[in-house]
Amino acid sequence: MARRRFSNRIVVVTGAASGIGLAVARRFARAGATCALLDMDAVRVKACEQAFADAGHRVLGLRCDVTRRSDCEAAMQTVIERFGGIDVLFNNAGITQRSAFVETRIEVYERVMAVNFFGALYCTKAAIHSLIRRRGLIISNESIAGLAPLLGRTGYAASKHAMHGLFTSLRSEVRDRGVHVMVVCPGFIKTNLQDRALGADGTVTRHPQSRVGRQDTPECAADAIFRGAEREKDLLVLTAMGKIGYWVSRLAPAFYERRMARRFKAELERPPS
Ligand code: NAI
Repeated sequence: MARRRFSNRIVVVTGAASGIGLAVARRFARAGATCALLDMDAVRVKACEQAFADAGHRVLGLRCDVTRRSDCEAAMQTVIERFGGIDVLFNNAGITQRSAFVETRIEVYERVMAVNFFGALYCTKAAIHSLIRRRGLIISNESIAGLAPLLGRTGYAASKHAMHGLFTSLRSEVRDRGVHVMVVCPGFIKTNLQDRALGADGTVTRHPQSRVGRQDTPECAADAIFRGAEREKDLLVLTAMGKIGYWVSRLAPAFYERRMARRFKAELERPPS
């Protein structure tokens, strides 16, 4: 099967100023793509834009808070006007949460859904006609928590399951029109995500994080995402432990739930550091 090529393609990355988003943008830029870097952190996104330009890449950095529909629409419009269209949309901007359901304020759920689910929805809606015209690619950065339960992350898991339903269903609608949708489910990757995790009251939590297995680097995740994009994978599960978790949760869901709960339960009981 012919592989997708990304040289001179227009790649839009949300949450591009840090972690997986930044590494993925760098990987596409190295392959000759033009990257539009979108992030709510205006200072960091401009610094990233400068670094890409200094490295000789064609780039545009835009402040865009994905929870604001108007920001998403304006950003996609700007990219289309500047570069002529969108070939790849990487829906990556995201936040997480670590707190027990009984203590967690509804506002925390609203915030996590606003960034992870509605942010991806707004960006995709604003880019879809251009993606269809250019037979493009949508990448949805989800999580193992988008496929299986995760104790202490009810809001995060709900938002990622919602993304999974949206993007796998969308794939079946747009495949015949030449657009591919790839879902990415990483295990633990070493980024800033956990340092900003929301706690029960909506402020950044100080509870230590439980983790299973080794964390991969964002660069390693980016290489896998790039190769998956070239090959038009439907589902990409990342990290060794992520793959084990995925298969155990599929083949033995009750066993997975018991083991996962035992592993993560202590997290919420430990005092904040
Ligand atoms: P990160 O915290 O290093 O990067 C996230 C970026 O998103 C930041 O630059 C942040 O400013 C931006 N962002 C947050 N809210 C935003 C908003 N409202 N509008 C625009 N930008 C916003 O975290 P990381 O790990 O790179 O996360 C990227 C994605 O990967 C997230 O969707 C996360 O759920 C997913 N993921 C990460 C895993 C990990 O272990 N790091 C595991 C599974 C999934």
